[in-house]
Amino acid sequence: MNPVQIKPNIYWVGGIDWHLRNFHGYITPRGTTYNAYLIVDEQITLIDTVKDYLADEMLERISSVCDPSDIDYLVVNHVEMDHSGSVGRVMDVAPEATIVTSAKGREGLEHHYDAARWDFELIDSGEELSLGERSLTFVYTPMVHWPDSMVSYVQQESLLFSNDAFGQHIAGHERFDDEVGWDLLHEEAGKYYANIVMPYGMQVLRALQALEGLKIDMIAPSHGVIWRTFIEDLLDVYPRWAGHETNPEALIVYDTMWDSTRQLSTALRRGLEESGVPVKVRSLQTSHVSEIMTDVLSARAVLIGTPTLNNGMLPTVGAFLTYLRGLRPQNRIGFAFGSYGWGGQGAQEVAGFIESIGWDMPVDLMNVRYRPEVEQLEEAEAAGRKLGEAVNASE
Ligand SMILES: [Fe+2]
Ligand SMILES: [Fe+2]
Repeated sequence: MNPVQIKPNIYWVGGIDWHLRNFHGYITPRGTTYNAYLIVDEQITLIDTVKDYLADEMLERISSVCDPSDIDYLVVNHVEMDHSGSVGRVMDVAPEATIVTSAKGREGLEHHYDAARWDFELIDSGEELSLGERSLTFVYTPMVHWPDSMVSYVQQESLLFSNDAFGQHIAGHERFDDEVGWDLLHEEAGKYYANIVMPYGMQVLRALQALEGLKIDMIAPSHGVIWRTFIEDLLDVYPRWAGHETNPEALIVYDTMWDSTRQLSTALRRGLEESGVPVKVRSLQTSHVSEIMTDVLSARAVLIGTPTLNNGMLPTVGAFLTYLRGLRPQNRIGFAFGSYGWGGQGAQEVAGFIESIGWDMPVDLMNVRYRPEVEQLEEAEAAGRKLGEAVNASE
């Protein structure tokens, strides 16, 4: 359990969760890491901790650098238990340590721990704390990802501990971005953004503004690898995601009972492709909603199809829409389609949903009784072409 030196006398001492496959509903086929960092200065400082069951792994890594009981400061950037789940263990080992956090951070810790026995130093946004040769500056980043979230910056090393911002759920022996490569990181950072951070685009833009003046040559997030080579690429895509900017692409998401809705999805795809728009197709029977959200992140048009079951949409489609509503993607073109035997409420509910979240609907919903006839498939293809034209005409 070796630590990894990331800057002189600054070490990664986190835990690797090789087995995690579901992070509160977000499917994580590559596992994840919880990153804690140790700064060895006059004041020995631990930045964040790990999930409770990885406390031993973290303490073992710390022990190969220093005696964990010598920790002077424990910085809590974020109360959520993937980062603060081992605060109790650290304070048991280093009871003299002072917890450095915001007032909201302290309040959150008090909800999870019997924290009255611990020393706290409460800091404001912009405040600097000397560690000896180095200092830490704290910047509040509310809602990236909880109200208490903040980041910590070491000016002397141009190093940002960004906590949940810029994370990715990847377990591995690699600790740095260039050991993994931009393509995979772009995908995993995007999936992470889409499934965790997307509702807080405004707050992300505000946080990026607050960090603008800082010289940064390394970003050490609390999940995944540390950024040192692809920082420019990362700081290019993050504001785009936060600003709900998309690519001229379309995504078709559907479920089907007797194949009619699937047939419509194929005709729609053909029409979109005829307009020159790249299309992704996702069936809710084979793709998890958290994977689909990665596609929603970049898609300008999202076409959603459902048959009618028991006077409503299929439950799989309902679950997808519930997830989508919470993550609040904006500035998309929406389209509802489906098939039915008598009622037809399923696709109507989807159209009502799209309207309720404020997406444009330049093409009316398409709802087909029983099996689509040849003419109806042609209609669907024409609807796909129209949607493709709307995608091409939009910014
Ligand atoms: Fe979090
Ligand atoms: Fe986290």
